[in-house]
Amino acid sequence: MSPLSVVDHPVLAHRVAQLRDRDTNGDTFRQLVAEASGLLAYEASRDLGTRRISVDTPVAPGAPAHRVDEVVLLVPILRAGLGMVQAIQEVVPRTEVAHVGLRRDESTLRSDVYLNRLPRQLAGRRVMVCDPMLATGGSLAQVCDLVLARGAAEVLALCIIASEPGLAAFTAVHPDVRVWCAAVDPGLNEVGFIVPGLGDAGDRLFGPPD
Ligand code: PRP
Repeated sequence: MSPLSVVDHPVLAHRVAQLRDRDTNGDTFRQLVAEASGLLAYEASRDLGTRRISVDTPVAPGAPAHRVDEVVLLVPILRAGLGMVQAIQEVVPRTEVAHVGLRRDESTLRSDVYLNRLPRQLAGRRVMVCDPMLATGGSLAQVCDLVLARGAAEVLALCIIASEPGLAAFTAVHPDVRVWCAAVDPGLNEVGFIVPGLGDAGDRLFGPPD
């Protein structure tokens, strides 16, 4: 399976265009991150495990049907990943959420983990890591390290925009983690922002941290 899936769809591309626009205000940006996340989650959850059930409809008993039969663990990378969670939960039934907080030092571009609420044991679990931005790929790689160290059976990542160099660096260390994104941008600037990107997703969602 390819480690990268770029979701090429007009209704998603429309949201990405609005997200990129520097004149999009914070309230609209938050709404767009949610909508784009729901659309990515819909695509990324296509192979979730299901179970055959039967349902009594108003007109007939025992209609065959399917129900999602696994509990996906969502791992938002704080802060920006938080903006994706509710919309993903509205699409994917029966999720749980474990928060991981990373802060990227913009001079070294290395991230420190300041919060780790991952369950101790993830054996057999499918984990969806969420972060709107994959820039150098360092934050996502660190979180995947943590998740895989706890035994997760399958890890996938939902990012709205990824950079080409970040994806290359990420897939070199995590070739088995499939990344779902809406767009791949060519590069990074000197402070590690995706170019053209959409700016600082955390700040646009929540305001400057200090
Ligand atoms: C940004 C972004 C990603 C990370 C991507 O977070 O939201 O989490 O950087 O960078 P990388 O791929 O180079 O690791 P930031 O550290 O600015 O924190 P914030 O979300 O709290 O604003």
